[in-house]
Amino acid sequence: TPQILSISQGLSSSEGEVSSRLILCWFFSFSHQTPKGSCLEAVKIAIDAGYRHIDGAFVYFNEHEVGQAIREKIAEGKIKREDIFYCGKLWNTCHPPELVRPTLEKTLKILQLDYVDLYIIELPMAFKPGDALYPKDENGKFIYHETDLCATWEALEACKDAGLAKSIGVSNFNRRQLEMIMNKPGLKYKPVSNQVECHPYFTQPKLLEFCRQHDIVIVGYSPLGTSRDESWVNVSSPPLLKDPVLNAIGKKYNKTAAQIALRFNIQRGVVVIPKSFNPQRIRENFQIFDFSLTEKEMKEIEALNKNVRYVELLM
Ligand code: A2P
Repeated sequence: TPQILSISQGLSSSEGEVSSRLILCWFFSFSHQTPKGSCLEAVKIAIDAGYRHIDGAFVYFNEHEVGQAIREKIAEGKIKREDIFYCGKLWNTCHPPELVRPTLEKTLKILQLDYVDLYIIELPMAFKPGDALYPKDENGKFIYHETDLCATWEALEACKDAGLAKSIGVSNFNRRQLEMIMNKPGLKYKPVSNQVECHPYFTQPKLLEFCRQHDIVIVGYSPLGTSRDESWVNVSSPPLLKDPVLNAIGKKYNKTAAQIALRFNIQRGVVVIPKSFNPQRIRENFQIFDFSLTEKEMKEIEALNKNVRYVELLM
């Protein structure tokens, strides 16, 4: 069984027994460049706080620090390698099938690990292969590359067979793209997960239902509504954590709006990957296993859906 499937089972199990299993599926996410060393510290703090699932990527430019943090915590005796669930990502410039395995091997070398627990196609579109991670033409337009997603997927299947990735999945795929993979003749492994934007203002009801039916775990990125960095975030959508409903429900449980937003998603079976570099908030985001939302509160939060993305991925 792909390892991540146990996550979905853990998430849908009844209250009370979730805690130990949920810790296994807790993600920690990084994106964008980070000051040197800050990621190393944040991951170590996260592991001490109980996080076990680390969401990374080559394009976050801090995989070496993540790997170092994991290795230091193993050396300390705090964790074993098998306690950690590391997710790596195949970037857009590496979709041609012959590039997939060397790209994953490069990530493993940076991490100094023997395998990743999950390797996912970061985005369904391909860019021109080469050193430029965001290749652009003279008009500033992205240079795309014609590849066959099904062939890319077959190369991921081969990485799993070679033991370089325990499980394989996708990210930012819509239903049509998922179906394309799942209906591929000779499919060996279907995607175990699809990482997409998901939070109370963008609840993904249709994709969530489709993925539930097909046993694909939704991993929700930007579960706190992003950092609102205008260089990549659509800030015309209001700040999630200021939402009156989330704050009112938080008051009742003596929790923050952030904790309510995270609890909402895990309670509906969506894995969350909150991102923080602040020790206090890293710990705060983990304190969500000691209460549960009522059905009425879940409905109230679901009704906040605006169907507007913060991360528009205009590429
Ligand atoms: P910081 O790193 O200073 O904690 P998302 O996970 O949706 O991308 O959101 C990440 C943003 O939310 C970051 O700017 C992060 O800043 C901030 N953040 C993380 N945890 C919390 C929290 N518990 N309360 C408020 N803001 C938070």
